[in-house]
Amino acid sequence: MKGLILSGGRGTRLRPLTYTSAKQLVPVANKPILFYAIECVRDAGITDIGIIVGDTREEIERACGTGDRWGVQLTYIPQEAPLGLAHAVKTAQPFLGNTPFVMYLGDNLVRDGITPLVRAFERERPNAQILLAHVKNPQDFGVAELEGDRVVALVEKPGQNPAAPDPPRSDLALVGVYMFDAHIFEAVDAIRPSWRNEYEITDAIQYLIQKGYDVRSHIITGWWKDTGKLDDLLEANRLILESIETCIEGDVDSGSRLLGRVVIGKGTRVRRSEIRGPVVIGENCVIEDAYIGPFTSLHHGVRIINSEVEHSIILENSSALNIGSRLEDSLIGKNVLVRREERRPRAYRLMLGDNSEVSVL
Ligand code: G1P
Repeated sequence: MKGLILSGGRGTRLRPLTYTSAKQLVPVANKPILFYAIECVRDAGITDIGIIVGDTREEIERACGTGDRWGVQLTYIPQEAPLGLAHAVKTAQPFLGNTPFVMYLGDNLVRDGITPLVRAFERERPNAQILLAHVKNPQDFGVAELEGDRVVALVEKPGQNPAAPDPPRSDLALVGVYMFDAHIFEAVDAIRPSWRNEYEITDAIQYLIQKGYDVRSHIITGWWKDTGKLDDLLEANRLILESIETCIEGDVDSGSRLLGRVVIGKGTRVRRSEIRGPVVIGENCVIEDAYIGPFTSLHHGVRIINSEVEHSIILENSSALNIGSRLEDSLIGKNVLVRREERRPRAYRLMLGDNSEVSVL
C-alpha cells in the first residue's frame, strides 16, 4: 500500500499563525503535528508516502526532507489550489496509480495508530474503509449514518451545509484517515463541488456507497483529534503530554521545584521557579522566577521571566516578561513578546497580526 498525507489547506481557523506558517507544522508537545502523521503511516508498514502540499510547500519540504529520518520515501505533490480532499486524491492519481492507499489528513492525531486497520483493509480488500468516532459536535465533521454495521449515508457538516440543513442523524464523525482502492478515482471524477466550493471526500465515499461498492467502517475508541482549531490543538497538546517521560537535560537550580513529568532540553536554565508537569520545555530556554503549570509546551529559545504559564503552547523564541498574571489556554507564535511595562501612561500597547485574539484582565 501507499500513503497519502494531506498537508495543503489554508488553516484559516488558526490565523494569524497560519499567515506565516503551515498549520500542520504547529508543534504539539514540541513536535510538528505532521510528524505524528508520518510516523503513524510508517508504523503501519507503509514507506512510499506522497504528501499533498499547497502554498506552504517549501516550509513543509524543509521540515520533512526526503523522509530518510523516518525510513520512508516522501514524494511532494503540489495541489494548485485547496479545492478539497477529493481534489487532492485526484491530484495524487499519477503517484498512486492502481495501488490501494491510506489517506491521512496531516492535522489529525490518532493515538492508537492505524496498524490493525491497515492490516484488516489489506486482508479483506473492501473498496474503501473509513474510521468513525463518537463526538459531541458532529455538525463540525462528516457524519455517518449506520444500519447495523453498514454505512448507509455520509453527509458533510450536516446542519451547517445548506444542502443538508437537518441536524446530524448520528454522533459518528468521519476521522481524517481513509483507505481506498482505485475505485475512488471514479468517485472523485463523478462528484460536483460542495457549498463551500470543495470537492468533498465525504461525497466521493457517498458515491461509492450509492454505486454498491464495499465501504466498511470501524468505530475507533481511543482518542482522536482534528487540530484545526485552537481548543482542539490545546487538547491534543494535553493528550500527548499525558504520555511523556521525565528527561532533564537542562540546568535546574536548587531554588526550583519540579513536580510530575517534566522534559527540559539542553541549554535551558531554570532558576527559582516551579514547574508542574506534564510540561515540555525545549532547548536554550530561560525560566526565571516563574511558574509553568500542567499541559504546557515551550519551544526552543522561549523566555518566561517573572511570569506564570499554564495549559498553553508557546513557539520558538517568544518571551513572557514580568506579566504579573497568568497566561492560560494560549497559543503564542514565534518571536512574540508579551511583557508588563511600568511606563506612564499605563496602557495596553499592542502590535497584533490580523485575526489575532487577546483577552485582557
Ligand atoms: C475534513 C472532512 C470531514 C472530516 C474531518 C476530519 O473536514 O471534510 O468529513 O470529518 O476533516 O478531521 P475539514 O477539516 O475540511 O473541515
